[in-house]
Amino acid sequence: MKYDFDKVVDRCGTESLKWIYPRQVLKVDNALPMWVADMDFESPPAVVEALRRRVDHGIFGYPLVPPAFYEAAIGWLGRRHGWPVRKDWMAMTPGIVPALNYCVRAFTGPGDPVIIQTPVYHPFYYAIENNGRRVVRNPLRFDGRRYIMDLEDLRTRIDAPGRMLILCSPHNPSGRVWTREELEALERIAVERDLLVVADEIHHDLVYRGHRHHVFASLAPELAQQTITCIAPSKTFNVAGLTTAAVIASNPDLLKKFEDEEERSGFDLGNALGIVAFEAAYAHGEDWLEALLPYLEGNVDLIETFVAERLPGIRFVRPEGTYLALLDCRGLAIEPAKLNEYFLNRCRVYFTDGRIFGEEAAGFVRINFGCPRSVLREALERVERAVKEAPCREC
Ligand SMILES: Cc1ncc(COP(=O)(O)O)c(C=O)c1O
Repeated sequence: MKYDFDKVVDRCGTESLKWIYPRQVLKVDNALPMWVADMDFESPPAVVEALRRRVDHGIFGYPLVPPAFYEAAIGWLGRRHGWPVRKDWMAMTPGIVPALNYCVRAFTGPGDPVIIQTPVYHPFYYAIENNGRRVVRNPLRFDGRRYIMDLEDLRTRIDAPGRMLILCSPHNPSGRVWTREELEALERIAVERDLLVVADEIHHDLVYRGHRHHVFASLAPELAQQTITCIAPSKTFNVAGLTTAAVIASNPDLLKKFEDEEERSGFDLGNALGIVAFEAAYAHGEDWLEALLPYLEGNVDLIETFVAERLPGIRFVRPEGTYLALLDCRGLAIEPAKLNEYFLNRCRVYFTDGRIFGEEAAGFVRINFGCPRSVLREALERVERAVKEAPCREC
């Protein structure tokens, strides 16, 4: 095998948030971290080598963004997503979460509503609330198997033209990869109601067989005028700690407003190593990603079988993309407020509590399965041992 995703790499001593938090902060010895969205895989060799060459130089002063940075992203988006992008549509940003905050400040005023499709990645709430705006929820509907958008409800939430929606596509934590039909239905509403869409497409490369990611802005020319797209190599290539991402808008007014806000917030020059990793990942990471995807899908299959056969009271919401998925634990006789604590203290497995994504996900936890299969299996076996002892409503 060219890339060894089974290799267990000890991350101790690297100040990894994922590993330190449950063990040192929550003080549960030997807990397995299946929570925050970074993977336990080494980044592609091409990325590591590019970084090594840059580090060997030994000087890390303020960097400019080289043309190759944009060319790598343009090549990637064209090849993998069929989206022809121009350099003058792009702005570098230190991360998607900062970009969401800049967008909220750039495109809405104090007290304005911003719509999100809940349960959703929790920093969406923070970007809205910490900037003095108002969260308006357009809850997804869960049909017991997967989450779907409620577009009738969305219509009722848009109270005036020019409102903003933060779209999560693919969706974290549900793992949905929205179909073209779903996105086109959303597009019709957006165009009709003049809705500004900030499309967080950070998970766009992590899509499993039988599904396809559609770049929202690419669906129609008029839609592109009111959409700002956020992309990053951070999830796909496991370089989140290098804090380098990009936003793309073909509407020059939107891009200018974004850049002005970014500047007002004090962001100017980027991260010298992040720029190198971004370029190397998009220019040379494809082969690695092609090997990663079936490995991750193998992990999905393992969870599905394991949960169905050995974890009564828990249901797996099979994801179509991302390396994150929900476990529906409402069949266990455990109060939602105690669920994550139970998994941590009884099983020594740390998931993300579903409630952080919205009240709709109470009774759920999110599992991050971006790890070697042996680690995933160990986590599931730990849960199995505990669940066997806990009373379960369904059995
Ligand atoms: C939907 C979504 N957006 C943004 C981020 C984080 O982006 P960044 O690290 O670039 O701020 C994540 C991380 O999990 C995510 O799931």
